[in-house]
Amino acid sequence: MSNQSARIYFDNAATTSLDPVVLEAMMPYFTDKFGNPSSIYSYGRESRLAIETARKTVAKILNAHPAEIFFTSGGTESSNTAITAAIRDLGCRHIITSPIEHHATSHTVEHVFHSGEAALSEVKLLPNGHVDMEDLERLLANSSEKCLVTLMHANNEIGNMLDLHAVGNLCKMYGAIFHSDTVQTVGHFPFDLRNTPVHFITGAGHKFHGPKGVGILYINENVKIKPYIHGGAQERNMRAGTENLYGIVGFAKALELATAQFEEHSSYIKGLKIYMMEKVKSVVRGVTFNGDTLGRSLYTVLSVSFPKTEKSEMILFNLDMNNICVSGGSACTSGADQGSHVIRAINNNPNQVTVRFSFSKHNTKEEIDFVVEKLKEMI
Ligand SMILES: Cc1ncc(COP(=O)(O)O)c(C=O)c1O
Repeated sequence: MSNQSARIYFDNAATTSLDPVVLEAMMPYFTDKFGNPSSIYSYGRESRLAIETARKTVAKILNAHPAEIFFTSGGTESSNTAITAAIRDLGCRHIITSPIEHHATSHTVEHVFHSGEAALSEVKLLPNGHVDMEDLERLLANSSEKCLVTLMHANNEIGNMLDLHAVGNLCKMYGAIFHSDTVQTVGHFPFDLRNTPVHFITGAGHKFHGPKGVGILYINENVKIKPYIHGGAQERNMRAGTENLYGIVGFAKALELATAQFEEHSSYIKGLKIYMMEKVKSVVRGVTFNGDTLGRSLYTVLSVSFPKTEKSEMILFNLDMNNICVSGGSACTSGADQGSHVIRAINNNPNQVTVRFSFSKHNTKEEIDFVVEKLKEMI
């Protein structure tokens, strides 16, 4: 059962529980090893070493160079930085994005667009929610300005995954900068950045049983941007401010654990997703699944649309009343009345109610049985 005692937690795309092994690795840096990494005496040197060791660990796992890994406060900061820098420092005057990006990307590109710094185009989506690659190529080919392409690796609401290599190669062909929000895939899939044509990717520790408030921005070594937070010389002069020492240590530890257990956990969690899909289909008439559910898709996410009725409209509320934690869309939009921009973009059917179930290694088939039984009662 879930480690959340009586609650069932099926919202692991929003955040995950901290692994006790990660906490254990972090603890000394809250207590004994508290030195400021910039101090030159032994306390400081110990902290500096912990950060640089963490950077090397992360770089090795992602097959990148340590100098390409910058620690940040999470996915939002990393995407803000990459997009802003592509416009300010890399000469991009045209942003190509999709209508289903996380708000960390979409609100940033809208801000840049409204301030007049770049034109903005949205690539078309196919009926299954994947990016229409022909339309992407058309946009790139017709652009008279240098482009920034910002497309997420895996969608946090419907799970669809982008072909990073195909998009990256197109970007290369047309001299575009490529940023991908990989917050839902770092810690969930293997990466080989040295052989992936991408300029910026992002990660957030709390999506893979690491701590909140810490993330990474990968900046390819061939891309040179200016400092984005001014002050001290931290993060090689790029991001000033005393480092989140225990967060950084925790990020690296969580990534290490996730990588070591990838095969076992991904196949277990995928089994849960398929089990849930079959179970829901068998008990709820007219249910549909959003995105390329069994194709190029995150194994952690299942987006389900139920026919809209007086009862199903109350589903999120009723699941919560039964101690079942799920969300209507991304965590950032749950509770907002207008629903999910992602679901609207791929399936504009007002007669449906959408629920995202997202799983982790802590979930079980017994929990799914319980949730489906409750769904049956509720609908
Ligand atoms: C796809 C995606 N991008 C970006 C973010 C933002 O990351 P963070 O909360 O670490 O800022 C999230 C999750 O919150 C996400 O799911």
